[in-house]
Amino acid sequence: MLSLDKICYTIDKEDEEIELISEASIQVNQGHFMAIVGPSGCGKTTLLRVIAGLNEESSGSIFWNGRNLAEDEDLSPSEIGYVPQFSIAFDELSVEESIESTIRLRVRARSHKEVIGIRDNILSKVGLKELRHRRVEVLSGGQKRRLGLALELASNPILLLCDEVTSGLDPKSEQEIVRLMHQLSHEQNRIVVNVTHSLSNLELYDSVLVLFEGRVVYHGPPERITHYFSVDSAENIYPTLTKQTPVQWHKSWEKHRASYYKNNTLKEQPAHATDDGPHETSSIPGRLAQLQVLLARRWKIFFRDRTQIFLQMAMLFGFPLLVVIFGLDGIPQPRHEPNLTSLNPIEKMGTQMEVTADHLKIGGLLSGLVMFQVILLTLMGSNNSAREIAGERLLFEKEKFAGLHVSSYIGSKVLFLLVLVAIQSIWMGIFVEFMIPSLPGELVGRLAILILVNAAMTSICLGISGVMSTPAQASLLSIYLVGFQLPLSGAVLALPQWLEPITRTFISAYWGWSGNLDLMKDAQFSQAINTITEDTSILAVGFCYTVLALHITGGLVAAYIGAKRHKWH
Ligand SMILES: Nc1ncnc2c1ncn2[C@@H]1O[C@H](COP(=O)(O)OP(=O)(O)O)[C@@H](O)[C@H]1O
Ligand SMILES: [Mg+2]
Repeated sequence: MLSLDKICYTIDKEDEEIELISEASIQVNQGHFMAIVGPSGCGKTTLLRVIAGLNEESSGSIFWNGRNLAEDEDLSPSEIGYVPQFSIAFDELSVEESIESTIRLRVRARSHKEVIGIRDNILSKVGLKELRHRRVEVLSGGQKRRLGLALELASNPILLLCDEVTSGLDPKSEQEIVRLMHQLSHEQNRIVVNVTHSLSNLELYDSVLVLFEGRVVYHGPPERITHYFSVDSAENIYPTLTKQTPVQWHKSWEKHRASYYKNNTLKEQPAHATDDGPHETSSIPGRLAQLQVLLARRWKIFFRDRTQIFLQMAMLFGFPLLVVIFGLDGIPQPRHEPNLTSLNPIEKMGTQMEVTADHLKIGGLLSGLVMFQVILLTLMGSNNSAREIAGERLLFEKEKFAGLHVSSYIGSKVLFLLVLVAIQSIWMGIFVEFMIPSLPGELVGRLAILILVNAAMTSICLGISGVMSTPAQASLLSIYLVGFQLPLSGAVLALPQWLEPITRTFISAYWGWSGNLDLMKDAQFSQAINTITEDTSILAVGFCYTVLALHITGGLVAAYIGAKRHKWH
C-alpha cells in the first residue's frame, strides 16, 4: 500500500515560500488504478514527482507497505516506473530496439533469450507487436504513449507513475491508453497512477483524486464524484471548484475522508490482481554491461542519422583538402647561410635581407598551415560533442532515474567520441603529410598533437554539453569557443602582455599550434620558425601535450558533474 501522510511541498521563489502541495494525505492499495485530476497548474505533476522521489517533500511522510521511505530505504529504481510528459525514446530506433535496449540497461538478464522473452511479452502486452519494426519517429501520438508505458515495464515495477500520457490524443486513443493502464494495474498487483487534466473515462479508474491549487479536495471512487461535488456530469467539476476556496474544499473533504476511505478506497482488489504470479522486480545491471549497451546503441543511432553522417563526412574529407590548397607547392627549403666574407657591406645587407625574407615566408607558411589544421580540428571537435549530452538530456534523466550509472553513460560517450577523434585527426595529419611535400618534423609526434587538440576540444564541448540545459545553449557556447580559438591564441594578433598567458591557457588551438611548430623546429627550419614566432613564445612540445591532457581531463570532469546533476527542465 502506498500512503501519503500530510505531504507538503514548498519552493523558494524570490525569498518567498510558495506551497505547491499542501497537506496531501491519501492511501492507495496494491493493484489499484488511480487518476490525479485537476485544472492546469494545480500541482498534479509536482505531486507525482514527490511520490516518485524526484521532488523531496518539505514535510510529511510517504509510506510503502508501512515502510517510511524517508527514513528507511527508498524504493529501488527498478520498483518505480515513471512515464513523463515528454517523448522518451530515440527517433532513430525501432519500437523493438527501444524496448530491448531499455531492458538491457535496466534488467540484469541471464541470457539473450531471456531478454527476447521479456521484450516480446511487453510488446504483446502493450499492443505494439505489429509495429515492432517501425521507427519511433513515425509513430502516432497514441503509439508513442504505448511505447512510453512499454519501456517502463522493462523492470516490472510495482508502482507505475504516468504524467499526462493521454493528453493530446483523440478520444478513441485516449480511451485505449486508459484501458491499457487499467490492465497494467490489474496484473502483478501493481499500483498505476495517472495524472490527467481530462475528466473523461473516469469510470475506468478505481479511484480519482481531485487536486485544486495544491490541495486534495476529493479522493474516492469515480461513481461518487458527481454526487460529492453536486454536479450532473464530471465535466462540470472544474467550474464548480471555483465556487469555494481551495482551503474550504480541503476542509470539507477532510470531514468526509474517513467515511469514503472506509467504504471504498481501501477495498482490497479482487483475486485477479495477482494472475501473473508472485511479483518479481529485477536488479540493475553492472556498470560495464550498461556501458556496452549504451555504446552499441550510440553507434546504431549514429549510422542512422543521415544528416550527422553527411556532416561528418564533409568535414572529414573537406577540411584536410582546405588545408592542402594552401601548401600545394610544397615547403621551400631554406637557403644555406650565405658566405658573406667576399661581399661589400651593401651586398651583405641585401643578402641578409633576402635570407630573412625567405625565412619569414617559410615560417609564415608553416605556422599558417599548422594553425589552420588545428583550428579545423577544434571545429570538428565541437561538432562531435556539443549536443552529445544536452541533445538527449531528458531521455538521459529518465534512464538515470531508472538506474543508469552516470559513469557508464560518460564512459560510453568517451569511447564513441574517441573513435571519431582518432579517425578525424589521423586522416587530417596523414592526408596533409602526403599532399604537402617535405613538411618538417616527425609525423608520429605531430599526429599525437593533432589527436590531442581534437580530443581536448571534443572533451571541453562534452563538458559544456553536460553542464548546459538545452542543446541550443550548448551548441552556441561551443561555436563561440571555436570562434575565439584564433584571436585568443595570440598567434595571429598580439594580445596585451599580461592578458596573453591567461587566455592562452584555455585555448586548445594554441597548444596544438605551439607543440606542432616545436616539433618542426629541426636544424633546417629552426631559424624560419624562430623568425615568425619571435614575439609569440613557442613552448616545448612536452609541455603542450600536458596542457592538452589537462584540457581533456577538465572537460570530462565537467561532463561527469554536469551529467550527475538533475536537469529535468
Ligand atoms: N520549480 C518550480 N518553480 C516555480 N514554480 C513551479 C515549479 N514547479 C512547478 N511550479 C508551479 O507550480 C504549479 C503546479 O505545477 P504542476 O505541478 O506542473 O501543475 P500541473 O501538472 O497540475 O499542471 C504551477 O503553477 C507551476 O508554475
Ligand atoms: Mg503537469
